[in-house]
Amino acid sequence: MTTIGIIGAGNIGSQLARLAVRNGHEVVIANSRGPETLTDLVTELGAGARAATRDEAAAAGEIVVVTTPLAAIETIPAGPLEGKVVIDTNNYYPQRDGHIEALDSETTTTAELLQDHLPGARVVKAFNHIGAADLTGHASAAGTPDRRALVVAGDDADA
Ligand SMILES: NC(=O)c1ccc[n+]([C@@H]2O[C@H](COP(=O)([O-])OP(=O)(O)OC[C@H]3O[C@@H](n4cnc5c(N)ncnc54)[C@H](OP(=O)(O)O)[C@@H]3O)[C@@H](O)[C@H]2O)c1
Repeated sequence: MTTIGIIGAGNIGSQLARLAVRNGHEVVIANSRGPETLTDLVTELGAGARAATRDEAAAAGEIVVVTTPLAAIETIPAGPLEGKVVIDTNNYYPQRDGHIEALDSETTTTAELLQDHLPGARVVKAFNHIGAADLTGHASAAGTPDRRALVVAGDDADA
């Protein structure tokens, strides 16, 4: 069993929490408004999950998922994520996130922005090219014929 910290409890964060609990992991999940606003979700998730602050989720997770709007990555605490694998689901939507010159000019990527913000973490991109509903709707066991594939991208093979 792994404790998975999830920062962002929206479409993707809540779905990853469901999958994690369903597969026997513990979840510590946070949003921007505070743990008291996540009562319904953690009640649904059951004993394997608890709501926390962003800092607590970062500290508690052996692996931590960052799944907020891209602009919020500047608020992700770097200290508790030192040495940890951080999974980044974020995509760039200028109409939502505002224009970011380095992304518009393709001199960097969203995952590299998060890695720059978290120099001690091991950032891996995943779950950014699947609709949230499909995370549970298309989930299937290893070996299932025509099982859906998801891309994982990073520069640290161990991570
Ligand atoms: N939706 C999809 O199907 C999909 C698919 C692939 C990738 N993505 C990408 O994945 C990321 C998350 O998408 P989403 O659809 O799950 O977003 P969402 O439904 O809008 O949820 C965003 C979550 O992030 C939290 N949040 C915002 N600012 C925060 C902060 N500073 N600290 C902690 N939590 C914060 C929000 O909390 P509050 O509600 O309390 O503000 C909310 O729980 C985005 O970059 C998106 O582009 C989405």
